[in-house]
Amino acid sequence: MGEKLKIGVLGSGSGSNAQSIVDAIAADTLDAKVVCVLTDVEDARILERAAKHGIPARYISGAPYKTKLEGEAEQEYIRVLKAHGVNCVVLAGFMRIVKSAMLAAFPNRVLNIHPALLPAFPGVASWKQALEYGTRVAGCTVHFVDENTDTGPIIVQRAVPVEPGDTPETLHARIQVEEHKAYPEALRLLAGDRLRIVGRRVEIHPAQ
Ligand code: GAR
Repeated sequence: MGEKLKIGVLGSGSGSNAQSIVDAIAADTLDAKVVCVLTDVEDARILERAAKHGIPARYISGAPYKTKLEGEAEQEYIRVLKAHGVNCVVLAGFMRIVKSAMLAAFPNRVLNIHPALLPAFPGVASWKQALEYGTRVAGCTVHFVDENTDTGPIIVQRAVPVEPGDTPETLHARIQVEEHKAYPEALRLLAGDRLRIVGRRVEIHPAQ
């Protein structure tokens, strides 16, 4: 894509995925810059993490909606992302569905991480869904975001075993270890201009 990846992270919680991206950049294994962090949760820990690394970070309410980002709030998110020069939007534990205005503002440049091996277990608390269903394998997926929920073209997936005696917490923790590898890996491929979306598949091209 030529231009360096300027990442805007959207998150609602702890921000451990955002941290993994910041750490990969600091370790020189990802050529990108996190230029801003936005959250819809006023006291989200992701704000502290951003502050620690000197990354501009802000709370922007998603009201009046609870589970989607639409209307005026969405416009404000887009305005702030553009003001920071963002060219790649990274959803990292952002618990709202982004809608068409965001996708149109950053075409094929909105990514999400989902804590399941999609298309299994879309939606919320997917690790719990996997445990209750009784799968032997769980995992995570990094994908491009499209108009529907958790359906966009898949970039990276990583699997973990479901162990006897797992609780939702132990399984989620095991999945998160892989998430912290999967997101930097997907962004490295994007930064290297190695991804081509072909229908609903993502081709990974060799490094130049
Ligand atoms: C992650 O496990 C992520 O996959 C999940 O929220 C967690 C956020 O953790 N996202 C979703 O469930 C989205 N539907 P983090 O704040 O520590 O990165």
